[in-house]
Amino acid sequence: MTIRFGGVVAVNKMEIDVRPGEIVGLIGPNGAGKTTFVNAISGTYIPAEGSIRWHDEEIVGRSPSYLARIGVGRTFQNVASLNDLTVLDIVKVGRSVRKPSGGLRQFFFGNRRQDNDLTDKFLEPLGLADHRDSPLQVLSYGHRKAVDIARALAGEPDLLLLDEPVAGVAPAEAFALAGFVKRIRDQLGCAVVMVEHKMDVVMSTCDRIVVMAAGAKIFEGSGAGVQSDPEVRRVYLGDA
Ligand SMILES: Nc1ncnc2c1ncn2[C@@H]1O[C@H](COP(=O)(O)OP(=O)(O)OP(=O)(O)O)[C@@H](O)[C@H]1O
Ligand SMILES: [Mg+2]
Repeated sequence: MTIRFGGVVAVNKMEIDVRPGEIVGLIGPNGAGKTTFVNAISGTYIPAEGSIRWHDEEIVGRSPSYLARIGVGRTFQNVASLNDLTVLDIVKVGRSVRKPSGGLRQFFFGNRRQDNDLTDKFLEPLGLADHRDSPLQVLSYGHRKAVDIARALAGEPDLLLLDEPVAGVAPAEAFALAGFVKRIRDQLGCAVVMVEHKMDVVMSTCDRIVVMAAGAKIFEGSGAGVQSDPEVRRVYLGDA
């Protein structure tokens, strides 16, 4: 696909093929176009040219809410919204995108059993169970990143787009988050695209890696391939 802002080409002929059950890492220097590409797949931007095939459907230009309903879930590079909601309510919002919960009353006053299920499945494994009734804004940055992942996963997506899920998160927590993403991938068999700068997390989590630079794909292959590819070393890792 190709994405332009005004006359500027931000993403040029970028192509990616993701299969169910696979975690693809999307890396590249700042400004390479990774977030722009994710925004196009999740419906925030409409590409100037190109196609996005989902099962047998052409979904280019579909709205974010439509895409969420058919199983395209995402997290955000900058978590900011939903600050006043509690952690559990945010997870319920993520859930309701795909699994209607029987009206607003039910949503907020709920069903204790459903709340406990969501807590066990999506909060406990991320160390968030003790915070389930806290508003998002009182949580640490690392916990807020984890809540965003829990929200996206609660919708049980078929395709999960993660935009820097562990940026700014301490190493131990980062590996725990990545491990949880892997376990959910195993359970749901979903496809995952993970944009991330933390190379140790990318290497240990992703089955395949795509490298973008200046809006285009410059490499696709294994972690070992990324580290030895001369073009990648030049534009991304530096020549040193
Ligand atoms: N809404 C917009 N209008 C104009 N230009 C934009 C817009 N969004 C992104 N760009 C430009 O598109 C290019 C790609 O940006 P993008 O945010 O996708 O990069 P990225 O690979 O996600 O970088 P980072 O690793 O820093 O998050 C940049 O040159 C950016 O300035
Ligand atoms: Mg980005």
